[in-house]
Amino acid sequence: MRDRMASPETVSSTGEISPRFDKLLKDVTTELSPDELKHAVSSIKSNFKGKYEDQREQDLYSCLHLFANQGFVSEDNLTLLERFVTPKTSKKGRIEEKIQAFKKIRLREVKTKDELTGRDSDLEKVMTKLTTGSSSVVNLYGTSGVGKTTLAIETLSKWPGRKFTADLRGINEMKDVHFHVLNALTGSERTVVSYEANPVIGQMRQLKRDSQSDILLLLDNVDQFMIGDGEKANFVTLLQRLLGPKTDRGKSAKLKILLTSRTALRHGDSLDVENYEVKALDKAFSSALLHTQGTPSHGTPSLKGNEREKLAEMCQGNPLILNGMAAILRQEIANAKQLLKAIELHEQEVVRASRGRIAINRKGYSGERNI
Ligand SMILES: Nc1ncnc2c1ncn2[C@@H]1O[C@H](COP(=O)(O)OP(=O)(O)O)[C@@H](O)[C@H]1O
Ligand SMILES: [Mg+2]
Repeated sequence: MRDRMASPETVSSTGEISPRFDKLLKDVTTELSPDELKHAVSSIKSNFKGKYEDQREQDLYSCLHLFANQGFVSEDNLTLLERFVTPKTSKKGRIEEKIQAFKKIRLREVKTKDELTGRDSDLEKVMTKLTTGSSSVVNLYGTSGVGKTTLAIETLSKWPGRKFTADLRGINEMKDVHFHVLNALTGSERTVVSYEANPVIGQMRQLKRDSQSDILLLLDNVDQFMIGDGEKANFVTLLQRLLGPKTDRGKSAKLKILLTSRTALRHGDSLDVENYEVKALDKAFSSALLHTQGTPSHGTPSLKGNEREKLAEMCQGNPLILNGMAAILRQEIANAKQLLKAIELHEQEVVRASRGRIAINRKGYSGERNI
């Protein structure tokens, strides 16, 4: 759990090879002489079984693809290339250079990805609510992919005291909530033997006694407890019990709870919750994100200013969509023109289809009147 805080997103390329990574694999193999290829492939065949044994005797490129598909080598882990392939060639220096260049670009990419775009003011406001507000619970709400979890994790990373996080996506039963929260607090998988005994409440009480400063608990994806009656009341009760009686709160460290969900929590008077809406990124930040994330490795932006504005607008400030769009541009799967054209055609289709429906509806209506 805590690892997730340090790196909100783990980049994995298992099973999916970007054109740029494919190019590196190709570039590396072309540096080898036929004899060296044969040698490398035969030693792979003697070390790895299965599909590797079916490869032609000089087809190192296919072997590397297999490695990539199985996750043995990836954009973030080139060890196998460096240790296994490079030393076996006479062009060692050239291959090392290519690998280093690739690594440098990758590092830049991962670094810019870690920087939060356009959320400084949100971060400050949420922090202020948690540290000075009268409520102990802040619910970050907004549409999917707008950046709630990212903002929550950023808040956690800035929190001076102890912090814990549990992801409640897809968890519907209270006993499972208890289990996950307890695991977050203890850092180890503990079985909740008796749900009624509520070990999680005791654990929190202990933490408050032992802590010098306030504790922050992030419960991510709590949509299922925001609406309807169902388990909502029980969930609110759990939060209240974790917070402890109001009279107690002056004595020991306090607990603050950060929630993320797609809807605001309407809870009546039983719990002081502040709902904070995480809104779409504004135009300037959307455009900046497309620029920093959408520039291909060779550094030439494929986007002209006005194309970027247009694309950014179509993404409606949703960072999930913006990042997806940027990845398409960065990996040169399509250029800006093709993307814009595809979206435009799709929109025309949608308009045409809806006009068609209106026409049919109108016909149906007048037909009935004529009867
Ligand atoms: N401010 C931001 N700048 C850049 N990327 C962001 C930003 N906020 C979110 N993202 C990226 O957008 C995606 C969706 O964000 P996430 O926080 O998971 O959304 P939500 O929790 O609202 O569904 C993630 O890949 C995240 O890295
Ligand atoms: Mg989320």
